[in-house]
Amino acid sequence: FQTIIEPFRIKSVEPLRFTTVDEREQLLGRAGYNLFHLRAEDVLIDLLTDSGTGAMSTEQWAGMMRGDESYAGSRSYLRFLEVVQELTGFEHILPTHQGRAAERILFGEVVRPGHVVPNNTHFDTTRANIEHFAGLPADLVIPEGMRPSDEHPFKGNVDVERLEQSLREHGRERVPLVMVTVTNNSGGGQPVSLENLRAVRRVCDRWGVPLFLDACRFAENAWFIKQREPGQSHRSPRDIAREMFRLADGATFSAKKDGLANIGGFLAMNDEALAERCRNNLILTEGFPSYGGLAGYDLEAIAQGLREVTEEDYLRYRVRGVEYLWEKLDAAGIPLVRPAGGHAVYVDAKALLPHVPPEQYPAQSLAVELYRAGGVRSVEIGSVMFGRPRPDGTEEPAPMELVRLAIPRRVYTQSHIDYVAEVAVAVADRARELRGYRFTEAPRVLRHFSARFEPL
Ligand code: F0G
Repeated sequence: FQTIIEPFRIKSVEPLRFTTVDEREQLLGRAGYNLFHLRAEDVLIDLLTDSGTGAMSTEQWAGMMRGDESYAGSRSYLRFLEVVQELTGFEHILPTHQGRAAERILFGEVVRPGHVVPNNTHFDTTRANIEHFAGLPADLVIPEGMRPSDEHPFKGNVDVERLEQSLREHGRERVPLVMVTVTNNSGGGQPVSLENLRAVRRVCDRWGVPLFLDACRFAENAWFIKQREPGQSHRSPRDIAREMFRLADGATFSAKKDGLANIGGFLAMNDEALAERCRNNLILTEGFPSYGGLAGYDLEAIAQGLREVTEEDYLRYRVRGVEYLWEKLDAAGIPLVRPAGGHAVYVDAKALLPHVPPEQYPAQSLAVELYRAGGVRSVEIGSVMFGRPRPDGTEEPAPMELVRLAIPRRVYTQSHIDYVAEVAVAVADRARELRGYRFTEAPRVLRHFSARFEPL
């Protein structure tokens, strides 16, 4: 049969609250047109993020009950450790309360002022953490990765030529590590091929620079490799994922994505001396190394989630579900990042709203309208998130103006997604009427979370 069904049934449900356009209009005003300021119960379909928003399985909930809350050496930690080591092969595993804590600890130990950290594309928290330690994040994705309408099976690939050039220019001393984000979230949830990871590995070996994965969505990346990379279709996603990790020297991980958990993460590496320094930092800021800012039951949920996430039935449904929404929007002529990403559909707001210049935040305008029209919450990934002030007070816009519709894992059914498509198509049909925004308040760091706006 052709229909790819949800590979689960639903045991517990959470009611949705319906609001009217007039109510949402008022709520937007109060929120300063920043969707992060809305109350979740005022949102009908919440596609703000796929992070920590997934539904857990019965086995994960059972694991929560089994959680061993001992301060040191708990059984839950040992179970977590066993799964993470089997999957990643890394020697040292430090649990953290989420991905950005792993980033802060890692970069705090290795990044010094003026250091350059290359990546395909840094996500907001890795970028901000590197900048926090006065380092310079460098985005070196292949050129196709920056052009929404270009087709490429591995649009998250690193431009290996530019990586080599960057190492030649800055030297080994100024590049403490190279990162690769799988999948490439800021660039449309696009995968990185094994071939590309191997090529990056060779460059890192030649220069003696360690390679770290930002592995939040490693399982979705492995699925794309299985589907698209020549010679990989016979392998299991888990086997591919294991190879991805073994091409690296370490990883930062947010268990809120492909950990299928609501909280958690880890920092992993093979370097003993670095691990020792990171562990001390962990004890100082997160917790003892056998829980790292998490409860024992969280470690159980992650351990079980990391088993389930590489199951083929799950990944087929997951990636197909995102593609289903993508196809509906594409059929309606909405400009999208092509092809569909692993966890989200990204609308190209620059192309949909050509009359709103980047200085007036077209992706913000579109995101606000999706909420006003249908109660659908998305997130801006454009100049609100990544614009940077120039010395003369004007602003350097982001390379792309995207609205991300991120699909939480195992949460929404096909009719929810049909509704989202209907709302998006209706909004796109009157895109010409949408106007830009300006900031009324903007903090210096990670401003998209707390800024306020007014319509122009
Ligand atoms: N790296 C990537 C690629 C991410 O997408 C995120 C989080 C992080 C690191 C940080 O992990 O949230 O556990 O601290 N991304 C979420 C998102 C917030 O909406 O894409 P965290």
